[in-house]
Amino acid sequence: MIPATAATALDFARVRADFPALDQEVHGRPLVYLDSAATTQKPTAVLEAIDNFYRRDCANVHRGVHTLSQRATVAYESARTAVKEHLGARDSREIVFTRGTTEAINLVAASFVRPRLGAGDEVLISAMEHHSNIVPWQLLCAERGANLRVIPIDDRGDVILEEYERLLSERTRIVGITWVSNALGTVNPIREMIATAHSRGIPVLVDGAQAVPHLAVDVVELDCDFLAFSGHKAYGPTGIGALYGKRAHLLEMPPYQGGGDMILSVSFERTVYQEPPHRFEAGTPNIAGAIGLAAALSYLEGLGAEAVADHERRLLDEATRKVLEVPGARLIGSARHRAGALSFVLDGIHPHDIGTILDAEGVAVRAGHHCAQPVMKRYGVSATVRASFGVYNSSDDIEALVRGLHTAREVFS
Ligand code: ALA
Repeated sequence: MIPATAATALDFARVRADFPALDQEVHGRPLVYLDSAATTQKPTAVLEAIDNFYRRDCANVHRGVHTLSQRATVAYESARTAVKEHLGARDSREIVFTRGTTEAINLVAASFVRPRLGAGDEVLISAMEHHSNIVPWQLLCAERGANLRVIPIDDRGDVILEEYERLLSERTRIVGITWVSNALGTVNPIREMIATAHSRGIPVLVDGAQAVPHLAVDVVELDCDFLAFSGHKAYGPTGIGALYGKRAHLLEMPPYQGGGDMILSVSFERTVYQEPPHRFEAGTPNIAGAIGLAAALSYLEGLGAEAVADHERRLLDEATRKVLEVPGARLIGSARHRAGALSFVLDGIHPHDIGTILDAEGVAVRAGHHCAQPVMKRYGVSATVRASFGVYNSSDDIEALVRGLHTAREVFS
C-alpha cells in the first residue's frame, strides 16, 4: 500500500528527470508522452534493478544451491513481498506472479470459476470492461453453457447501480469489474459493489490495471476476492503483473498450467502440486520482471499515494477544461469520479487523424477503441482520442496537446 501520508506535492523536476525516455525529440519536437494508460515510461530505478539482476545475479529461482540462484530466489520472493505490501495483502502467498492483468483474469476464470460454473449460471461484468475482462468470460461461458450478463452504464460513464443490484442473481458465480476504466477514466465505486455482491455470497474480481498506478490500494479494506494488475502500467516492465487472491480461494484452486516449479513431486502415476502461489507459476518465471516491478512499486511509494493522486487529479481537471475549449470537442465519459485518462472526439475529424497530427508535434496519445469496443458502441463512436497521464506529466504537456488539437482543427477546416 502506498503510504497515504502528508500530501506533499511531487518534486516535479526530480520526477521528470527520473525517466530517461522522456528526454528525447520526436519529429524534431520534445516528446510529450500522454499514453501512460497504454504503458508508462520507466524510471531509472526500475531500469537499474533489471540491469543489476542480469549483470550480477542472473540465475534461475527455486532450483539451485549455488549462490547466484539463491540471490535470484531471494530477489524474486522479496518482489512478491513488495507486491503484497503495496496491495495491503495479509500474506505473500496471496500474490501470484502472472504475465499481467490478462493472464491473471484468465487464471481466475480457468481455475476458480470454471469448477463452479454450470449450464445456466452467470458471470456478471460491466459495460465498460476492457476486452481482457470480457473475452475470458465469453470463452468460459461458451464452454460451460453459462451466460455473460452486463451491467449497463449511463451516458456519463457510471455503472447504473440499480441495474447492478437487479442483475445479481442466484445464478451469478462471479462479478468481474474494473476499478478504473481505461477508455473512460471512470472510477467505479468498487467498495460498495463488492459489499453488495458479498451480501449475496458472490465473489468479486477487480481489474486493477488502471487503478494501481493512480490510487492507493488496500485489498483487505476493499475485501475483494481477487485483484489483477499489470506492472507496465505502473512504471514497471512489460510481461509481469500479479494476481492477488484470498488465500482460502487460492488453496481451493487447481493448477492453471503444468510444468516445472509448480510441483512437489512427479511420477507417471501421480504428481503432487505445490501450494499456492507456486502452484500457479509453472516454468521459469519472469524473474527480472518481478524485480523490476518491485522497484517500480517502491518508486511509487517513495512519491506517496496522495501526492500522486493529487498531481494527476489536477492534470485531469485542467486537461478536461482546456480540451473542451477546442471547438467541436466532446468528452466520451464524464463520470463523477475519473482518474488517469481523458477520452474525447473532435467533430468531423477521425481520432486516428488527430493522433497522427499530434504525433507530428511530438505528442503521443492513443487513438482507437482502447481494447474496449463495447464502450465505443455504447457511445456510438468507432474510436476516441485518449490522453492519459502519469506522474511525469505537467501543464506544459496539456498546452502541447491543446496546441496540437488546434492544428488538427486548422488542417481539417
Ligand atoms: N489496455 C491498454 C490501453 O488501455 C493497452 O491502452
